[in-house]
Amino acid sequence: MFSLRGSRKRKRNAGICLLLGTVLVAGYLIYLTDHKTINLQDVKSDGGRTKAPTKNNSIAYSWPKCEKNVSAANSKNFSTFTVNYQDFLYYHHCRHFPMLLDNPDKCVGAHGSADVFLLLVIKSSPSNYDRREVLRKTWAEERLVNGKQIRRVFIIGTMDAAWEGERLNKVLELEQHQYNDILQWDFKDSFYNLTLKQVLFFEWLERNCPHASFLLNGDDDVFANTNNMVEYLQAHKDSNGNKHLFVGNLMVYSPLIRDTWSKYFVSVELNNAEYFPPYCSGAGIIMSVDTALVIYEMSKSIEIITIDDAYLGMCLAKAGLSPASHMGVQPHGWYLPSRRIDQYDPCHFKDKLVVHRFFSTNMFYMWKKLNDPNLNCTKK
Ligand SMILES: *[C@@H]1O[C@H](CO)[C@@H](O)[C@H](O)[C@H]1NC(C)=O
Ligand SMILES: *[C@@H]1O[C@H](CO)[C@@H](O)[C@H](O)[C@H]1NC(C)=O
Ligand SMILES: *[C@@H]1O[C@H](CO)[C@@H](O)[C@H](O)[C@H]1NC(C)=O
Ligand SMILES: *[C@@H]1O[C@H](CO)[C@@H](O)[C@H](O)[C@H]1NC(C)=O
Repeated sequence: MFSLRGSRKRKRNAGICLLLGTVLVAGYLIYLTDHKTINLQDVKSDGGRTKAPTKNNSIAYSWPKCEKNVSAANSKNFSTFTVNYQDFLYYHHCRHFPMLLDNPDKCVGAHGSADVFLLLVIKSSPSNYDRREVLRKTWAEERLVNGKQIRRVFIIGTMDAAWEGERLNKVLELEQHQYNDILQWDFKDSFYNLTLKQVLFFEWLERNCPHASFLLNGDDDVFANTNNMVEYLQAHKDSNGNKHLFVGNLMVYSPLIRDTWSKYFVSVELNNAEYFPPYCSGAGIIMSVDTALVIYEMSKSIEIITIDDAYLGMCLAKAGLSPASHMGVQPHGWYLPSRRIDQYDPCHFKDKLVVHRFFSTNMFYMWKKLNDPNLNCTKK
């Protein structure tokens, strides 16, 4: 991790040096940057929060580096927790990370035109290039549906393996250059940092896209029928996104897991409740931007926990709002009456909104089939 941060900083310094090079003796500076000996102060202080230039010349916000909370090791039963959970406790107070790739104009209309109706917010990770590629060509394509704008962002952290991490960051930069759909922050992209990723996204949303109407907040391995989704949202009683909406696969009376070996373990010190408040499975949640901003406001006073979707339920509960169920969201796969029926028959998916665990080939097939005007689902 140190080497990753170190080399990123060096790169940024190198960029600034090249700029100065137009004023000063270029050859001399290139010599210096090549030898990585310049240590310019590239971020000017601005009362805690600072503005730093990023590669695409936008403004990103950065904060002082968040320090490890060493006294977390004194919490009860600490030694019985997994290394990952211990790591989570050391850093879960950290809420601000600099952006490496930003997209501040994502919600500005193509020609000063209408606001974004549906923003697709897809949790991805540095190594999932192939999943992003297929989504761009299928349900997550930026387009107009029924005259409504669909836009897309992938939300991503970094990988803390020195060489591979650097290489994947480079790939993300190239993707950004080509598609302008990456939001990347400088934190370790891991399961226990998903809540952090979600909160950082909401912060971005408030700053850059508060006038969008709706979000689909989901994983990069779901199949989302975004055409249906636009129709469903247009039929919704308030289709400007100014009212509460939070739907998906509803989870009620979900107990907190106390087995330390479990991926879903939550320590008593972090949260001593027996059950989580109702929430929707994080694979695919449809919400109004209004609700998203309320959740963000609530999150400021709720400690980050390891389970990102349950955390959203906690924020809703604090605001006195409820999540709701939608039959079209099936995050645990789908069930068919007989094994002799093709499980990828597109007619099973015609009226679905989100179905979990689809990979490239089937994603592509299903999207093409569902958009085929000759698709005939009338039973013989
Ligand atoms: C650090 O951890 C201790 C023990 O869990 C906790 O009491 C304290 O509030 C934490 N400090 C920060 C800054 O989160
Ligand atoms: C979350 O990200 C921070 C910043 O990169 C890192 O220090 C921490 O170890 C990560 N936490 C987990 C549980 O991966
Ligand atoms: C510590 O672990 C014991 C045994 O698993 C459990 O009963 C107790 O509630 C835990 N205490 C805390 C504060 O996590
Ligand atoms: C769809 O298929 C049914 C049954 O095979 C047939 O009766 C109907 O005419 C078809 N509809 C269209 C629009 O092709």
